[in-house]
Amino acid sequence: MQYPVITIDGPSGAGKGTLCLWLARQLGFHLLDSGALYRLSALAAKTLGVDDNDEDKVAEISKHLDVDFLPTDNGVAVMLSGSDVCALLRTEEVGMAASKVAAYPKVRQALVERQRNFASAPGLIADGRDMGTTIFPDADAKIFLTAGPETRAERRYQQLQSAGTAADYEQILADIRARDENDSNRAVSPLAPASDALVLDSSHLTIEEVCQQAMAYIESKGVK
Ligand code: DC
Repeated sequence: MQYPVITIDGPSGAGKGTLCLWLARQLGFHLLDSGALYRLSALAAKTLGVDDNDEDKVAEISKHLDVDFLPTDNGVAVMLSGSDVCALLRTEEVGMAASKVAAYPKVRQALVERQRNFASAPGLIADGRDMGTTIFPDADAKIFLTAGPETRAERRYQQLQSAGTAADYEQILADIRARDENDSNRAVSPLAPASDALVLDSSHLTIEEVCQQAMAYIESKGVK
C-alpha cells in the first residue's frame, strides 16, 4: 500500500522544522525528522564512548538505535533508550558530530529502511537533506527550502537570544558555513534539490508565506 509522502529538504536553519510541523498538523500526517536520526547516532556513539572516526562501529549503533518519537503539544519528543534527549540533540556540538557521521555511507545505509518505514497511513512529511533524492525518490511532492547563510545565522542568533542563551553571530555563521560545506560535498546523498523539487528561498519570506506557498504547491500535486 502506498501512502502520500511529501519531502522537505534543505540546509540547516532554512525553516524546514517549522514548515514540516505546520504541514503535518494541517494534513494530519506523520512527521519524519531524519536529522534527528543522525544526531541520535552521534549522541549514542558519544554516550557509549565509541570513537566517531570509526565508521563501522557508528553504523552498528545507527542500525540498533532504540528510539521513539512521541508527539507532544509543542512538536515531537525524541526518546533514546527511554530517556528524553531533545535538549541534548539540539546542541551545536551534536549537530557538528551528526554532520560528520552523516557523511559515512555505512551510517546512511543503516538508516534507509528505518526512514522508509515512517511512510504509513494517512501520509508522511519527511524532513531532511536527501528525502526527495534518495529515501523517497517517488514522493508525491518535493520541496527544497533554502535561505542565504546570513539569514539562517541571523534567525539562529535571534532564537538563542530569545531563549536567554549567550550567542555569537560570527561563530554561528561560521558553523553554518562549515555544516553546509560538509553536507553539500560528501560523496553519498549530498545536500542538493531533487530535479523535480520546488525550490523555495525563504530569505525574504515570512514563515506564513512559506507555509502558504508550500501548501499551494502540495495541493497542486493532488495531495490531500
Ligand atoms: O537537520 P539537522 O540539523 O537536524 O541535521 C543534522 C545533520 O544530519 C546535518 O548536518 C545533516 C545531516 N543530515 C543528513 O545528512 N541527511 C538527512 N536526511 C538529515 C540530516
